[in-house]
Amino acid sequence: MAPDTERALLLQQLKNYLMFLRESGHTHVPLNSELSELPVMATLSGTFHDSSPQPLESRMVPKSPFTKPEDDGKPSSGLVDVREELGDCERCKLCETRQTIVFGSGNPNADLVFVGEGPGADEDAQGLPFVGRAGKKLTEIIEKGMLLDREKDTYICNIVKCRPPGNRDPEKDEVEACKPFLIKQLKAIRPKVIVALGKPAASTLLGRTVPITKERGTWHEFEGMKLMLTYHPAYLLRAYTLENRQAVYDDMQKVLEVLKA
Ligand code: URA
Repeated sequence: MAPDTERALLLQQLKNYLMFLRESGHTHVPLNSELSELPVMATLSGTFHDSSPQPLESRMVPKSPFTKPEDDGKPSSGLVDVREELGDCERCKLCETRQTIVFGSGNPNADLVFVGEGPGADEDAQGLPFVGRAGKKLTEIIEKGMLLDREKDTYICNIVKCRPPGNRDPEKDEVEACKPFLIKQLKAIRPKVIVALGKPAASTLLGRTVPITKERGTWHEFEGMKLMLTYHPAYLLRAYTLENRQAVYDDMQKVLEVLKA
């Protein structure tokens, strides 16, 4: 292999690995610096800094998001295996146009998982789900409407992990190719509640065409987990009526009741 090609391949692999760490919740990677005895930290957003004020131990060992908080004891390393199995996926044509695989983000041990449709341009660029306008709305629903912390209390993913070009709806073959990974993700997390955001997510999880206006606010079951259907935040932004906002608020209060039970 030509040195340039090999270098490009290695850089791509490194980028994918760093994206994977960031998606998994890591924020820093310890680096051995030849310039200083102290390790230098690279943040996964791309900047470098000396983290001297923190104790050495905490600088050397990034906190694993896969370590469960002491209080619950659910295993979650399954999510790492799912991401590894997905690899540098080429199972459908979306791989030809995507920048990044958007696997999911948040707490891999969360009791609450939101499932959206597919990454948009912002998500494709950043490798993280719901970071654009719809993402801001979703964060508002979680943090202001439910008084939860998006990163600590929820995990967020999509039915397809790669951006459909031009933000078109994902096609049947694309959903079919990606669905096994969504199912494995949900089974690995096994949250108390899954929330399907919008018709494509609801229809994919229930295996039938869901009339979301009629069925939002209703409880269903997915692989033994409780499933709530609600509007997609992008729909809320398009149809920003009091009635629609109230509907989502009401649906999320139902979710909170189950989470607190
Ligand atoms: N819309 C989605 O359905 N998912 C995202 O990640 C972003 C916008």
